[in-house]
Amino acid sequence: METSVDVDVSIAERTTTSEQPYFAVEELHAYYGESYIVQGVTFDIRRGEILALLGRNGAGKTSTLRTIARLDSPSLQAGQIWLEGAPIHTMKSFEASRAGIQLVPEDRRIIQGLTVEENLTLAQVAPGRGWEIERIYSHFPRLAERRRQEGVTLSGGEQQMLAIARALARDIKLLLLDEPYEGLAPVIVNEIEKILNEIKAHGITTIIVEQNAIAALRLADRAVILDTGTVAFAGTAKHVLENAELRQEYLAI
Ligand SMILES: Nc1ncnc2c1ncn2[C@@H]1O[C@H](COP(=O)(O)OP(=O)(O)OP(=O)(O)O)[C@@H](O)[C@H]1O
Ligand SMILES: [Mg+2]
Repeated sequence: METSVDVDVSIAERTTTSEQPYFAVEELHAYYGESYIVQGVTFDIRRGEILALLGRNGAGKTSTLRTIARLDSPSLQAGQIWLEGAPIHTMKSFEASRAGIQLVPEDRRIIQGLTVEENLTLAQVAPGRGWEIERIYSHFPRLAERRRQEGVTLSGGEQQMLAIARALARDIKLLLLDEPYEGLAPVIVNEIEKILNEIKAHGITTIIVEQNAIAALRLADRAVILDTGTVAFAGTAKHVLENAELRQEYLAI
């Protein structure tokens, strides 16, 4: 008798989770002081998907990522953020990170005075451990070769790899990438793109913000285009790739 009750409960739970998106933001409103920047942003992501968050300069992409990561600014004034049923909107940034939201900021924040490996092991000190170091090196051979080198002496592309690797060293449920290709030579962009495809194959749900919209759309399943802090388009990445008018209007490409 008890067994049949257990079975019923597990079926009920499974039904519920399959109906809920893996990650969702609902009506986010965020401010830098008096400046109203994120103006009612809503979208969701299914598990394992890559979402390209696009838009012109100043559209609010970085601000949206920072809001999701629960950094102090911009400050979230209204709206909800849900990750696998956990209310991220009630959390501080360290709690959001512990809950599996890992932001790789544009400036990468490699820690000075630490080697590549120390940057990675430090990420594993706080609760919420992710990939083991050797597993990370198998995807990032350049980092494996430079494991004893000080992180800040790496090339720009290698520092970007280290910043992504460090996010994977944490328990990761949602990877937030802010302009991972910025300032990098095409050959390095290709290398990082290959790594991001490998990460995708491991089912890591990702939001990628990129000026190089075409590269982001190649990687992504879905796309959200922001325009002055609001969602101008939400749909498939394929739709944006195939719709020159849409790209012209909101991305100027
Ligand atoms: N710390 C801040 N204080 C006040 N306003 C800010 C701050 N940071 C960004 N803004 C403003 O918020 C708006 C959105 O900026 P945000 O950096 O989110 O845009 P973005 O889409 O990431 O642009 P870019 O493509 O240039 O990186 C811009 O008008 C910007 O000037
Ligand atoms: Mg930005």
